[in-house]
Amino acid sequence: ALYPAAETAHAAASSSSSADDAGARVEAELRARADWQLGLQATLSSLASREMVAYSVHEQTTLVLTPEGYSIARDGSHEARLWRALPADAEQGASMAKLGELLTPAVLKIAQGKAFAKRWVRKHPTAAGELARVPGVDAIEDDTALALQRVRDAGETSEKEAAEYKKRKLVAPRKLVYFSVTKGPQFALKVEKLETDLTFEMLQSGAWREKPFKKYNFNAEGAAPAAGALHPLLKVREEFRNIFFEMGFTEMPTNRFVESSFWCFDSLFVPQQHAARDVQDTFFVKDPPAAKHIPEDYLARVTQVHEEGGFGSTGYRYPFSRSVTEKLVLRTHTTAVSAAMLYKLANAPGGFQPAKMFSIDRVFRNEAVDATHLAEFHQVEGVVADYNITLGDLIGFMQIFFAKMGVTDLRFKPAFNPYTEPSLEIFSYHKGLGKWVEIGNSGMFRPEMLRPMGLPDGVNVLGWGLSLERPTMIRYGINNIRELVGHKVDIDGVERAAAVRFP
Ligand code: PHE
Repeated sequence: ALYPAAETAHAAASSSSSADDAGARVEAELRARADWQLGLQATLSSLASREMVAYSVHEQTTLVLTPEGYSIARDGSHEARLWRALPADAEQGASMAKLGELLTPAVLKIAQGKAFAKRWVRKHPTAAGELARVPGVDAIEDDTALALQRVRDAGETSEKEAAEYKKRKLVAPRKLVYFSVTKGPQFALKVEKLETDLTFEMLQSGAWREKPFKKYNFNAEGAAPAAGALHPLLKVREEFRNIFFEMGFTEMPTNRFVESSFWCFDSLFVPQQHAARDVQDTFFVKDPPAAKHIPEDYLARVTQVHEEGGFGSTGYRYPFSRSVTEKLVLRTHTTAVSAAMLYKLANAPGGFQPAKMFSIDRVFRNEAVDATHLAEFHQVEGVVADYNITLGDLIGFMQIFFAKMGVTDLRFKPAFNPYTEPSLEIFSYHKGLGKWVEIGNSGMFRPEMLRPMGLPDGVNVLGWGLSLERPTMIRYGINNIRELVGHKVDIDGVERAAAVRFP
């Protein structure tokens, strides 16, 4: 379109909000068209499954106008709008203030550069700061608007134009999907309801002979079978078990949540006044009131080592209480199980044999519950009993064990357990948190614990423990333990949780 010089300047100044509305309309239209295509494809595929039609899908990329492109196609390019806003008499100028009433600052800025380059507009030779038309240009051809109108009305442009307008964000590529449809062998103008079940009645009456049946859809995904799923803790537990088995460990029997204080504390040389044996930290069992059976000769040796010491130790020098050792507790650590198993090992009929044993099970602590602590959790624990085991073995073994979980670069920090000396806390660098975090506790069991059991001189035992919850939460990206255990657990999430493989 050639704009006559007489066209009023006002017509050129379109408000930008109506251009935005137009753009939004274009977007809405495209979305509606996409929805319609999806619906159409579903209908076609259902008709095709009845062999009423055959169809194929074609895709083509076309260009559509952006909101800005749309407004240029309708109102002209910025430079054309500037030219139209200037007085028809090329000797007359217009000030920036005047032009600013007709064109927005953004349009004015782009318009000047382009209009100068196209030699439509000049600086007024005498009126400083004013713009004027170039003399002799009585009409302009707004090539940009024309090209965008062609895109709008017919979807066509040259490749060169397309590239340029894409760069200027005036046009954008859109995928166009279309279908070619032909009649199929079962073509009909009415869609008959197809039978999906062969019923007893159909068989009896013989109606099945005439009935049209729906074809099997072998592409259907099918309903997920209702089946049980392992809880994430059990998946990680399984992976730990595999590591232990691979390293030649046997599993200790942990099917005893209620233990005597004897196995939970006294056999481990934990003094009877120790804080861990307080109701603040431990759940005590009221009924039954006391443990039924504690091996008497062993109890006597444990009593002696607490009261007087032995094996190079001075002991704790307090009167050992039988009623305290008989108190039943919910076990606070699986080391109670390890103690019982080491005692069994020391008193095996054929004599002591070196052993590697592990357990993974639940323990209970009377603790304040928060995002990372519950009153019950799981411990992963291992013990290795052999002649001449040293602290070097413990450190080397921890490095091998944790490397199998993908955890390398361990650091060890001296710590304290009543039953191990030395004791080491194990740290690893957590990249996500950017700091060293404690991942386990370990140590060399004390002679005050091992010798009364009857383990021969020269036999040392290394042991370590860690929680099952922490690696599980890290594996599954869970921050709050209540999402892992308890009534807030997402059952679907549990069903979907992937199996775990270390590392
Ligand atoms: N029982 C210790 C705990 O609860 C773990 C541990 C086991 C430490 C064996 C040393 C040896 O943290």
